[in-house]
Amino acid sequence: MNDEIVGIDLGTTFSLAAFVRNGKAQVVKDTSGNSLIPSIISIHADGSVFVGTEAQRHCLTDPEHTIFSIKRLIGRTLKDLEKDLPFIPYQIRENIRDDGRTVLTVKIGDKDFTPEEVSAIILGEVRRLAGNPTRAVITVPAYFDDSQRQATRDAGKIAGLDVLRIINEPTAAALAYGLDRKRNGTIVVYDLGGGTFDCSVLSIADGVFKVLSTNGDTHLGGDDFDHAIIQHVLDDKLNIKTKLDARAIAALKLEAEKTKRNLSSNDQAAFNLDSLPTLGTTPLEITKENFEHKIIPLIERTITCCKKALKDAGIKTTSVDEIVLVGGSSRVPLVQKMVQEFFGKKPLTSINPDEAVAIGAAVQGEILSGKRK
Ligand SMILES: Nc1ncnc2c1ncn2[C@@H]1O[C@H](COP(=O)(O)OP(=O)(O)OP(=O)(O)O)[C@@H](O)[C@H]1O
Ligand SMILES: [Mg+2]
Repeated sequence: MNDEIVGIDLGTTFSLAAFVRNGKAQVVKDTSGNSLIPSIISIHADGSVFVGTEAQRHCLTDPEHTIFSIKRLIGRTLKDLEKDLPFIPYQIRENIRDDGRTVLTVKIGDKDFTPEEVSAIILGEVRRLAGNPTRAVITVPAYFDDSQRQATRDAGKIAGLDVLRIINEPTAAALAYGLDRKRNGTIVVYDLGGGTFDCSVLSIADGVFKVLSTNGDTHLGGDDFDHAIIQHVLDDKLNIKTKLDARAIAALKLEAEKTKRNLSSNDQAAFNLDSLPTLGTTPLEITKENFEHKIIPLIERTITCCKKALKDAGIKTTSVDEIVLVGGSSRVPLVQKMVQEFFGKKPLTSINPDEAVAIGAAVQGEILSGKRK
C-alpha cells in the first residue's frame, strides 16, 4: 500500500501530482517524462474512457465525446455560470437531486456526468500515475466558495482518495518556495494559467498564511495568447476572412500553442500548416516581436487586476516582500518583464511555474505528516 501523501494541483487545463520524499519535492512524471496531464476526458459509446493526452487527441476528431475545463463547472449552478455559458461548447443540464440539492451534469454521448464525476476521472488518472496513494492534499483557487471546495473534496473521494486538506493554490505556491519559514511579510502570487488569471495578496505571520485579497479574470490566460497568434496568422499572414469550421479552429489552436511555447525561448518560431493544407503549405514565421505586440493589452489587464488586489488589501507595491510567479503562461518573457516593472522587484521564478502549486500541496502533506524539518 502506498501511504505517502500526494499533493495534487487539479487545474482547469492541466493537472499534476507531487510528493516530498526525504525533504525533496518531486513531481510525478509519465513514461515520456511529462508531468502535466491535460484535464480532458473522452468517453465513448463502447464504454472506453480516455484521459489526458489521449483524450486531447480526441478533441479534434470527436468533440461531442470530449470534455475539457470541467473545473469551471464544479460546485456551481446554472445561475453562477451565466457569464461562462457562451464559452462552454458542451451540453449542460441542471438536475434536482433527491436530497433537494441542485447539481449540474454534462452530456457525454447519451450519458450524464456530474462535474465531480468528471473531475474524479482526471484525479483517478493523476492518482494512478502517482502509484495509487490513498491520502491527498488538493489545491483550489483562493476564490472557491464552500460549495466548490466541497465538490472538489467529493471528486477526490470518488477517485478513492482520502482528502486530508483542500488548500488555496496561492498558499501552495508560497509553500513551494518555503515562504512559510519567513516570520512576517507580504507576498503576491501572480498566477497566469491556461484559461484563468489570479492575483492573490497573502500575509505571513509566524508561518501562517492569510489571504488578504484576490483579484483576477476567469477568462484570461494562455488560451488568449493562442488566440492572438491565430488572429495574427489569419489576419496579417494569410488574409483569410471566411469563417473556419470547428475542426480547423481546433487544429489552429494546437499549432498556435506550439508556436507560443517556442517563442518563450526563441526570437521567431514556425507555424506549420501541415494539419491545415487548405490554408497553405509552407510554414509561416512568427516573430516574438509581433507576438509581444499582440499580447501587451492582455498582460496589461493582469496588471490592472494586481492593482485592484493590492488596493483591496491596503498594500503598496513597495511593501510587497516577494512576488511568486505561477502558471505556465508566466513563462512568457514579456509577462515576467511587465510584472517586474510594475512591482519594481524581481519575481521568484526558480520553480517550474506549472509545478509550483502541486509541489506546495506536497509540502503541505509533508507538514501534515509531521515530517517537515
Ligand atoms: N513555455 C511556455 N511558454 C508560454 N506558455 C506556456 C509555456 N508552457 C506552458 N504554457 C502555457 O501555460 C498554460 C497552462 O498553464 P497551467 O498549467 O498553469 O494552467 P492551469 O493551472 O491548468 O489553468 P488555470 O490556471 O487556468 O486553471 C497553457 O496555456 C500553456 O500553453
Ligand atoms: Mg493553475
